[in-house]
Amino acid sequence: MLAMVPALLPITHATADPGSLKVRVNQPGVKISPMFYGLMTEEINHAYDGGLYAELIQNRAFKDNPNNPVHWSIVLDGGSVGSISLDNSQPLNDALHTSLKVEAIAVSGKQRVGVANTGFWGIPVESMTRYRASFYAKADGSFNGPITLSIENRDGTITYAKATVGRITNAWKQYTVTLNTGKLEKPSNAGRFVLSASTQGTFHITQVSLFPPTYKNRPNGLRRDLMDLMASMQPAFLRLPGGNYLEGNTIAERFDFKKTLGDPATRPGHQCPWGYRSSDGLGLLEYLEWCEDCKMEPVLAVFAGYALNGEHVAAGPGLNQFVQDALDEIEYLTGDASTTWGARRIKDGHPAPFPLRYVEIGNEDWFDRSGSYDGRFAQFYDAIKAKYPKLQIISTAPVRSRKPDVIDDHYYRSARAMANDAGHYDKADRNGPKIFVGEWASTEGSPTPTLKAALGDAAWLTGLERNSDIVVMECYAPLLVNVNPGARQWGTNLIGYDCLTAFGSPSYYVQKMFGTN
Ligand code: AHR
Repeated sequence: MLAMVPALLPITHATADPGSLKVRVNQPGVKISPMFYGLMTEEINHAYDGGLYAELIQNRAFKDNPNNPVHWSIVLDGGSVGSISLDNSQPLNDALHTSLKVEAIAVSGKQRVGVANTGFWGIPVESMTRYRASFYAKADGSFNGPITLSIENRDGTITYAKATVGRITNAWKQYTVTLNTGKLEKPSNAGRFVLSASTQGTFHITQVSLFPPTYKNRPNGLRRDLMDLMASMQPAFLRLPGGNYLEGNTIAERFDFKKTLGDPATRPGHQCPWGYRSSDGLGLLEYLEWCEDCKMEPVLAVFAGYALNGEHVAAGPGLNQFVQDALDEIEYLTGDASTTWGARRIKDGHPAPFPLRYVEIGNEDWFDRSGSYDGRFAQFYDAIKAKYPKLQIISTAPVRSRKPDVIDDHYYRSARAMANDAGHYDKADRNGPKIFVGEWASTEGSPTPTLKAALGDAAWLTGLERNSDIVVMECYAPLLVNVNPGARQWGTNLIGYDCLTAFGSPSYYVQKMFGTN
């Protein structure tokens, strides 16, 4: 890569001078690593549920609120009588213990008793599209179906697609149908999904799911438009799974990779630190397949014994279980069939190991005022290096106990501050750890950055590139935002979307322009 030095000429309208750019080909800048440009991700702003994870049903397992079936409402058409309530007496399994009890008390003919879900700020309805719907159901007593599934407009006056499941049994069973929309004049973001009965009786449902076609048609897959936007940036890596999402508000609410694997109906989900529950439908394997599909390498952040409320496990025997979890997670990515977790990945459907060069210990551990990070880092570092000597270990705060291979720096500042500080790494210690700028943004504009912010970003990036002998990787944060007001928690984000459409912000195009050139 050659250093390009623009001559800074004043622009005046009078001279109409087009300006000039001097390229000193005899003075090349430092080589930019092929790993330099990447993406950072976590569950924030409904980045996955209501975002990249293509599931369209919100609160599909009725766990989002213990008292109410939030995002669901009863449908009573044509004078029918019925009720819905949460029920914990009929667990599907250890992970999903809640179901929705639907009582069709008085219904016949064309009447119906059912439930509607309005998705994540709307169900997207697209022309000539095949949706895959599934649900678990269990009939009480004499009810035996049928159950009808439909995609409708908000008040039920238009039905876009419909299918019926004939017989419902008294034991939990999964039912799957396809729903095909016809030709529509224009797509809509105001659909709803309805599951209903026209015969009397009581039944339970849970894990109610609706998927549009996904990227590369992966089952339990990701949204096509968002994947296209990311793939076209040609990112080299994905820093996953956070961010604060890795840590959780409490240790119990950390990202526990083992609970995010396997059949989505056996994943308990967990509370995310950004104020809502994560279904964990986008779990560790889905992250890795996301990497594979966008040709990115995972930069794996492992939980390091510190949660956002300050709870922490000091170095010593108490920390061993978390160190072991990290080793297991690395094995899940890289192990072969002879290893426990490599075998588990193969069983989960991915025989080939994933590439892995960087492992990050925790996230923003300078927040840990107890001073425990130094010891915690050393314990993870030693265990990982002993088993995987080639892995590069990233620390999230300065440490003295070991020399990290890389340290992760974060910056959220105004566009002006970013531009003014573009020389930040010009004088950085060349003998210290390498630098990963693992979260940063010019934070102007909401929900996505302004053009001014993008200019601040561009100026800052020139400084990172100029110092890429020491700055080995960079990624903007946060990456994704569902732009509906109730969906977002962070001000300035790279890519915005609602349930139907997605767009790149000015900063997205800066990242893309730098990353692809
Ligand atoms: O990017 C949003 C948040 O900012 C991240 O979760 C956290 O690491 C940082 O403080």
